[in-house]
Amino acid sequence: MYKISILSGDGIGPEVMEQTLRILDKIAAKYNHQFEYKPAFIGGVAYDKFGKHFPDETKEICQNSDAILFGSVGGPVSKLHEPKWATCERDALLGIRKTFNFHCNLRPAKVYPELANICPLKKEIVDQGIDLIVVRELLGGLYFGKHEILEENGQRLGRDIMEYREEQIKLIAHDGFKIAQKRSKHLTSVDKANVLDCSKLWRQIIEEVAKEYKDVQYNHMLVDNAAMQLIKNPAQFDVILTENTFGDILSDSAAVLPGSLGLMASASLNKDDFSMYEPSGGSAQDIAGKGIANPIAQILSAAMMLKYSFNLLKEANVIENAVNKTLKDGFRTSDIYSDGTKKVGSKEMTDEILERI
Ligand code: IPM
Ligand code: MG
Repeated sequence: MYKISILSGDGIGPEVMEQTLRILDKIAAKYNHQFEYKPAFIGGVAYDKFGKHFPDETKEICQNSDAILFGSVGGPVSKLHEPKWATCERDALLGIRKTFNFHCNLRPAKVYPELANICPLKKEIVDQGIDLIVVRELLGGLYFGKHEILEENGQRLGRDIMEYREEQIKLIAHDGFKIAQKRSKHLTSVDKANVLDCSKLWRQIIEEVAKEYKDVQYNHMLVDNAAMQLIKNPAQFDVILTENTFGDILSDSAAVLPGSLGLMASASLNKDDFSMYEPSGGSAQDIAGKGIANPIAQILSAAMMLKYSFNLLKEANVIENAVNKTLKDGFRTSDIYSDGTKKVGSKEMTDEILERI
């Protein structure tokens, strides 16, 4: 039996989560598992109920479960100035990352051959095969250094401290190399070592850790060049290992390659094997409640949970294959629709995936 905290959140979160639980129920029935769902509030809905985006009640539910399945948080663009939404994403996401020490963020980006036409890059680039994963350090750097706006000589001054400790870099470096060992054994470490001392230390430590993974080929790349290479020649990448801020930016660039955020799953891991799984996209308030959101990112996040948290590799593969097959058979939600394919809503897309499990 596995206890799963269900943090559906805002916008399309609840509707794609509902579909994902249907998939998990089918897996449970077919392979004789028991998934116990523990719903809890996060984001704007938590603010309405508890006056906080990540309340203690939610923390406790998460603490008593085996993994967290997260939907999305955040408000409509027109309401971002309201207290309910202004700090919603930051409070909810940084709060939960810090509480559970999620230091490692995995963001895979793969172009499905049958969806190659919605990748924004030229066909000859896409045809080389795009299948990479960004391994992002999630608890250090600019995000968690001191932030302040002060006054100096009658002028306002903004300051954010960027810091990395040796042990933080070592931890994520080992994760990156271990993941590379399980993929094509190639890793690109991204930094800004021509300017930043944090990056110089990063590079030194990557080289030290690399000695323990002789089977993995690795190279260093400066972040500005990496941003360019992701567009010019993404096929060269397998594992991209990088610090928090660079990972934030590069993973969004990588996320446009498959053609829709609605396809992108992610995982945040800590060193005690407790993890959280969430779609890479946001709450998409503009399409919420219409039944048209692509459920695939949430469904693939659940598959990642089965794989990484519960070691249910076969079950995870069954879900991934069912998704591939559904896409191959031409079913598309509106975000990935093109002429000649069959347009379906969230529920119908899930029905089709269920049929192929
Ligand atoms: C992400 C988001 C968050 C981040 C924001 C909402 C705090 O952009 O998960 O990438 O910057 O980490
Ligand atoms: Mg981001």
